[in-house]
Amino acid sequence: MTIADRAVLVTGANRGLGRALVEEALQRGAKRVYAGMRTPSPHPDERVTPVRLDVTSAAQIQAAVESIGPLDVLINNAGVSLPDDLTDPAALDQHLAVNLFGTYGVTRAFLPALTRSRGAIVNVLSLAALATVPITPSYAISKAAAFSLSQSLRVLLAGRGVTVHVALPGPVDTDMIRDWDIPKTAPESVARAILDGVQQGEEEIFPDPLSAQVAESWRGGAVKALERQNAALLQTVPADGERGVA
Ligand SMILES: NC(=O)c1ccc[n+]([C@@H]2O[C@H](COP(=O)([O-])OP(=O)(O)OC[C@H]3O[C@@H](n4cnc5c(N)ncnc54)[C@H](OP(=O)(O)O)[C@@H]3O)[C@@H](O)[C@H]2O)c1
Repeated sequence: MTIADRAVLVTGANRGLGRALVEEALQRGAKRVYAGMRTPSPHPDERVTPVRLDVTSAAQIQAAVESIGPLDVLINNAGVSLPDDLTDPAALDQHLAVNLFGTYGVTRAFLPALTRSRGAIVNVLSLAALATVPITPSYAISKAAAFSLSQSLRVLLAGRGVTVHVALPGPVDTDMIRDWDIPKTAPESVARAILDGVQQGEEEIFPDPLSAQVAESWRGGAVKALERQNAALLQTVPADGERGVA
């Protein structure tokens, strides 16, 4: 999948990593970039179309599908991360609503367009999907769930020619962890590495120095081998027409 001449949708595009992904897609010659935002604002590049898109709103998702039309690359970037300690179930609900069900809802809605284009889905997750960060446990749970969602979608959508990639960044220098006094990577650099990974067909993209430490052991590891082994089980189940995620 190349980005040049493609139509790309980025959710959570108004700031942070989402905004950097919009700029990176433009630099790579995207034909059109749809910038999903809760509060749309204009962009100087005429290839950018701001789209009102709260990923927890079924009505806004549907309106976005109708206004956007053809789509090659969906980047599910919108996310929330708030500190909690698992005492309040509402915190878990809040993270799941955006990071899991938002990603699922947007993906499901754009699937017909992505199937037509034999496109790509890029879910921006986090290293916290693989190893929890106990300051933000609800966030980690939601990203781990979205990781599992992505693994299943990868297998279920393969027959339609739609690829599923996950980005697993470590700390990125955005508002999300503004107060964390730890080394962080610039969002522009992370955005570049994510789109490099998509273009190289990487299933898991480790787009910064911290996450890159995990890449080699992940790719050659037992868990990835088991994922492939489990994927083959699908062939043992008969299906009428296209599989799942209608
Ligand atoms: N920063 C990190 O260290 C880090 C590390 C690993 C992964 N990530 C992931 O990277 C992605 C981008 O995060 P970031 O670092 O750029 O954080 P950020 O600066 O806090 O930006 C979050 C973005 O998500 C949007 N958003 C939140 N809830 C939304 C909703 N219901 N509907 C639509 N958009 C919504 C925000 O929009 P508003 O402006 O309207 O709030 C904002 O555009 C997230 O998925 C995050 O989990 C970040």
